[in-house]
Amino acid sequence: MSDEPLVLGIETSCDETGVGIVRGHTLLADAVASSVEEHARFGGVVPEVASRAHLEAMVPTIERACETAGVSLRDIDAIAVTSGPGLAGALLVGVASAKALSIGLGKPLYGVNHLAAHVAVDQLEHGPLPEPCLAMLVSGGHSSLLKVEDVTVGVDPLGSTIDDAAGEAFDKVARLLGLPFPGGPHIDRAAASGNSVAIDFPRGLTARKDLERHRFDFSFSGLKTAVARWVEAQQRDGITIDVADVAASFQEAVCDVLTRKALDAAQFHGIEDILIGGGVAANSRLRAMATERAEARGIRVRVPRPGLCTDNGAMVAALGAELVKRGRAPSALDLPADSSQPITTVVA
Ligand code: KG4
Ligand code: ZN
Repeated sequence: MSDEPLVLGIETSCDETGVGIVRGHTLLADAVASSVEEHARFGGVVPEVASRAHLEAMVPTIERACETAGVSLRDIDAIAVTSGPGLAGALLVGVASAKALSIGLGKPLYGVNHLAAHVAVDQLEHGPLPEPCLAMLVSGGHSSLLKVEDVTVGVDPLGSTIDDAAGEAFDKVARLLGLPFPGGPHIDRAAASGNSVAIDFPRGLTARKDLERHRFDFSFSGLKTAVARWVEAQQRDGITIDVADVAASFQEAVCDVLTRKALDAAQFHGIEDILIGGGVAANSRLRAMATERAEARGIRVRVPRPGLCTDNGAMVAALGAELVKRGRAPSALDLPADSSQPITTVVA
């Protein structure tokens, strides 16, 4: 028997009910039930629908994770749960479930930050995190550059989006192009056969005048509007839109800005390792461009496999295991779900 902690992690901040089980850095189970199809016709996640789906999926997902891991709940050393940020009602379901497990099993409870969990998950795939590392988290709800010295203690925010998140831009542009929700994977696929220099879309906050105040911040709303204007103009002129070209050119603009700013931040802070996480990290062009550009500057890039980039319970369990290993204090049992938990609070 290993003396690494066996931790169960619960994630319910958005539309995925995730339950992961890890032993130290070893992933034993990653059960995910998604309500994404129930939201598709609304073109975005409906909070009440997500909360209800979490309630229904929670117990079966916990059972599935235990079965896959070949462990019984009695074997678990600690419970970790996303306490925020995220949708309030959705978070509540996870936090209440984790409290019930913690009380029922008599094991410590860790209410953790969703963003820190997106960082910690990479340990399951690539081993201990380089300290420090520069984390770029890009998903439907966040786009942040963070300096991470020790993910169990805190992260230092360097910049974030001032309007839309990167994933949100993918989802909105996909909608404009008539592609299904969530749009990221569809744009990624359509772009594969498109010309990425067909249309020169704007790169937000990269002009010299913006760099002074927003060097490490992002803005994607101007890009989204530029795509909308371009599509409208084509339609007005009766020209059939080449979806692949628009997707490829849009994706190129997003990836160009993301990788440029991440590399700039790493170099500015003397950091040699970049970690990319969040749903958009599944993007094939982002992975390729980041690796290529970083290599040219002697910087290493780590990106977890796509299944670990999108929301899941394993990431929460991975952070929980690290907290246990480093002897960090657990949360109190009156732990609240905090929809706007600051990125600087790793354990609530
Ligand atoms: O991390 P995540 O699962 O949930 C949030 O916390 O938001 O990220 C979901 C986001 C969606 O906006 C989705 O369109 C985007 O990640 N996404 C992608 C890809 N796969 C998922 N964006 C670009 N390319 C992809 N391959
Ligand atoms: Zn996320």
